[in-house]
Amino acid sequence: MAKVHVTDVVLRDGHQSLIATRMRTDDMLPICSKLDSVGFWSLEAWGGATFDACVRYLREDPWERLKKLRRALPNSRIQMLLRGQNLLGYRHYSDDVVRAFVQKSADNGIDVFRIFDAMNDIRNLKTSIEAVKAVGKHAEGTISYTTSPVHDIPYFVNLAKELESFGCDTIAIKDMASLLTPQVTGDLVKALRAATSLPIHLHAHATSGLASMSIQRAVDNGVSIVDGCISSFAEGASLPTTESIVAALKGTEYDTGLDIGLLQEISAYFREVRKKYWQFESEFTGVDTRVLVNQVPGGMISNLSNQLKEQGALNRMDEVLDEIPRVREDLGFPPLVTPTSQIVGTQAVLNVMTGARYKSVTNEVKNYLLGHYGKAPSTVNADVRSLAVGNAEVIECRPADLLSAEMEKLRNEVEGLAKSEEDVLTYAMFPDLAKTFLQERNAGSLKPEPLLSKDTVTTSASRYAPSEFNVTLHGETFHIKLTGSGHHGEEQRPFYVSVDGVAEEVVVETLSEIEVSGAQNGNGEAKKKSSNSSNGSGRPRPSHPGCVTTAMPGTIVDVKVNIGDKVSAGDGVLVIEAMKMENEIQASKTGVVVAIHVKKGDSVTPDEALLEIQPD
Ligand code: CO
Repeated sequence: MAKVHVTDVVLRDGHQSLIATRMRTDDMLPICSKLDSVGFWSLEAWGGATFDACVRYLREDPWERLKKLRRALPNSRIQMLLRGQNLLGYRHYSDDVVRAFVQKSADNGIDVFRIFDAMNDIRNLKTSIEAVKAVGKHAEGTISYTTSPVHDIPYFVNLAKELESFGCDTIAIKDMASLLTPQVTGDLVKALRAATSLPIHLHAHATSGLASMSIQRAVDNGVSIVDGCISSFAEGASLPTTESIVAALKGTEYDTGLDIGLLQEISAYFREVRKKYWQFESEFTGVDTRVLVNQVPGGMISNLSNQLKEQGALNRMDEVLDEIPRVREDLGFPPLVTPTSQIVGTQAVLNVMTGARYKSVTNEVKNYLLGHYGKAPSTVNADVRSLAVGNAEVIECRPADLLSAEMEKLRNEVEGLAKSEEDVLTYAMFPDLAKTFLQERNAGSLKPEPLLSKDTVTTSASRYAPSEFNVTLHGETFHIKLTGSGHHGEEQRPFYVSVDGVAEEVVVETLSEIEVSGAQNGNGEAKKKSSNSSNGSGRPRPSHPGCVTTAMPGTIVDVKVNIGDKVSAGDGVLVIEAMKMENEIQASKTGVVVAIHVKKGDSVTPDEALLEIQPD
């Protein structure tokens, strides 16, 4: 019987697409025994964003999460999403790191590795596929689906044949951007079935509203496994609803055999869970047909909206969505999926925010243009390339061939901090975050970001000060709501606030207090108590054309010049990390550096002069 199998993605893609990957392990474990008894083909539970969010926001050890899920799901295949040679990070790793990561993931509980490459460059998939086969696990080779003049059915069929020749067990069609139409889905599944002997697994996001129809056509044309999500985390930027897929196929020759009553119990559980994370709900979680024009994946839209919100620039979303396809074409039509979605998205944001295309180019775009991410599907815009990297040589080989073994070096770099090979791998994935993370974990002081209560918390402060107000700074208005605070009198007093709906913890270090009391000093004058520690950025506002500023808030990762250095307009003088991308800030003028107002590690915002240049 041609039964269709189901993979449920609620533990990974569902909350990644709808609540910025914030679901905590404690909210997963209580429902695992029910999930385990459903009879899914697999449960997708791990991947780059979940790993990142664990370390960055939830302050959970991602490996511990995997171990706990493994224990709680003894009868289910646990599936992860692996970015080929990028693993779960944002760069290419040497082959020994790829093998170690696959080994440890398998040891801790992963059964199915869905392996993709953002460029569909088969050379970037080879080592991880071989590593998965070497540890005896299921390798699912993945087609990152997109549309462009070069991405036609023969192109994808070729890719699938190569994946089969590498030893993959199944082929996944990954439609992260929700671009598949029912017609194309049917044709593609049929063509893949004819060209390979492997089962086909469909992962189609619901963003454009087409996915449920596409699933039916995939089923009619011989798909073996389809991805769905439990209804309370389904649809919109997420995947189509599992219960609906089960109901649609019930009683047909494709009957999934799953118990819809049990699925509804699970959905009821997650419906309650989702309420706790209301602050992370994106405004772009419904059906959004713009995706059919701008090809921006659901997860990318919600990330962009969060990032623009943080910069107080949510109103520029439409301009960014218009700029994305242009940047994508300049880069030779890469599919938009991590990391190319971030690379293209961040460059598009820069092109909009700086008011001039490629005035500022991220290091990632430069590396992309030099071939360090692999081969672009189509030709790149030569003007953009020469603007960004000049005549620098473009590499032709597999990018990882240029990397020597690095596990030993990584081990040495976190000696003392890392308690296991898993810790070394955490460090390999997120070097800037992992050291602090491991330190705090070892000290038992990890603290997750706060979850806001929907009701305003009444605090002692709110009796004397407004707890909800609008602040207008440099023409931008922010809605701020105080939701809680530490105790008065603490040296470092935390305040919990929501800024335009985004939860923030603000630690206030009191430097100066004004006591308004006529009785104490007799003359009614305000008494001022000062402290000598300096706080606030102290950086001047830009006041002349030689002031170098940033287009986006971020962290300084490198200061490339010293006072007295001669620079030419356009020279890189600072490197800033913003939106997880490194970006060079260029000299605004030719001249001499006369003042530097930043150092490595400083947080900076667009209304500050970071350094100053005077004409020679
Ligand atoms: Co997805």
